[in-house]
Amino acid sequence: MNERPIFANGEKPIARLLSDYIDGLSLERDFYTSNAIYDNDIRHYWNTSWIWLGHVSQLPKVGDFMLFDYGPESLIIARDQQGEIGVFLNVCRHRGSRVCLEHQGNRRVFACPYHAWTYELNGKLRVAREMGEDFDPKAYSLFKAHVRIFEGMIFACTAETPPNIDAGLKDLAPLVAPFDFGNLKIAHTASYPVPANWKLAVENYMECYHCAPSHKDYARSHSIKDPDYLRRDLTRLMNERSLAVGLSDEKLSVSSDREGALDMDFYYRRYPLFEGYLTGSKSGEALAPLLGDLKGFDGGATDLQIGILNNFLIYSDHVVGYRFVPRSVQETDIQVIWLVRNDAWEGKDYDLKDLIWLWDVTSQDDERIIRLNQQGVNSFHYTPGPLSHMEWGIRAFYEGYLSKAALW
Ligand code: FES
Ligand SMILES: [Fe+2]
Repeated sequence: MNERPIFANGEKPIARLLSDYIDGLSLERDFYTSNAIYDNDIRHYWNTSWIWLGHVSQLPKVGDFMLFDYGPESLIIARDQQGEIGVFLNVCRHRGSRVCLEHQGNRRVFACPYHAWTYELNGKLRVAREMGEDFDPKAYSLFKAHVRIFEGMIFACTAETPPNIDAGLKDLAPLVAPFDFGNLKIAHTASYPVPANWKLAVENYMECYHCAPSHKDYARSHSIKDPDYLRRDLTRLMNERSLAVGLSDEKLSVSSDREGALDMDFYYRRYPLFEGYLTGSKSGEALAPLLGDLKGFDGGATDLQIGILNNFLIYSDHVVGYRFVPRSVQETDIQVIWLVRNDAWEGKDYDLKDLIWLWDVTSQDDERIIRLNQQGVNSFHYTPGPLSHMEWGIRAFYEGYLSKAALW
């Protein structure tokens, strides 16, 4: 733990910002404007969280690799000779150069472009020239992240002791099993850069208080913009249909631990679309073949969260993954990833333009409102304001975030 106070903007130490925080309000300006807080966000929040990196179908062969970058960090995700997927820091153990520059591809080894230290697909150092007799290559493997593959979805955490992901995944497994995530493929990936702090992007995703005023296309088909009591009957009818097609009607909301840094939230809830909508499409009609072994459309969509940073929306015929990737204190990429079953053919089984329509227009709306949110927060006259009960997800985010921040 850092003994010295860390100053957010040269005026208020972070400890003071934390002790001044009033439950039920948004955060103070510094949390969205300070470089010192941004650095701590990466070091102590992102680097101690599990992050969704992609799907195993992206790396089918030995030697296949891809990068995932956030903040100043870069991760290499690679399939080794044994067929195992490993995740390594893309930082050379010699003098720290980036080792891999290509964003994805297939390699036999990773050779550092600086002095040619050469690493195997499993991160082990194979060759380092002119290092003398005493040099032990075994001591200089690329730093390895913890990895979990859940139903084909790849997660990694770079902390020495990661949060407990296993208990939550075990609880989620029977709920998501009917969708057969293991046999998905990525149909499309899009990135929407927004000039805002990553926390504003996460907060925006955590609440649907803004959905009715800001997302007219989404609001036409998705009932979650309404408070619970308005859609009670819709939910009951959908639950009956869910059970009939082989889905659970259970809701899951658990935290793995309440031990500060090891805390992790899991959430699964299916909610109804309005009548006439089978999925998140413009017309209401199906977009792609049913996932897994579903026996039909139940007219629902699931909000799935595996840790605050990893969000998925599961329709009966496709999945949309959401990530908010920090680039700098006020630059974030909203990344949206569409997945369909892996035997579906573009052009025959699904039309890409139709598939991505809703979350493309919705993400463009979100880019705008998040950008304007940051512009307002940048004013020295901004003061934290009260959250609606419909913004309960933001409170859950703050709770985890502030408890980690307290350990900085
Ligand atoms: S920094 Fe990579 S080989 Fe020198
Ligand atoms: Fe939104």
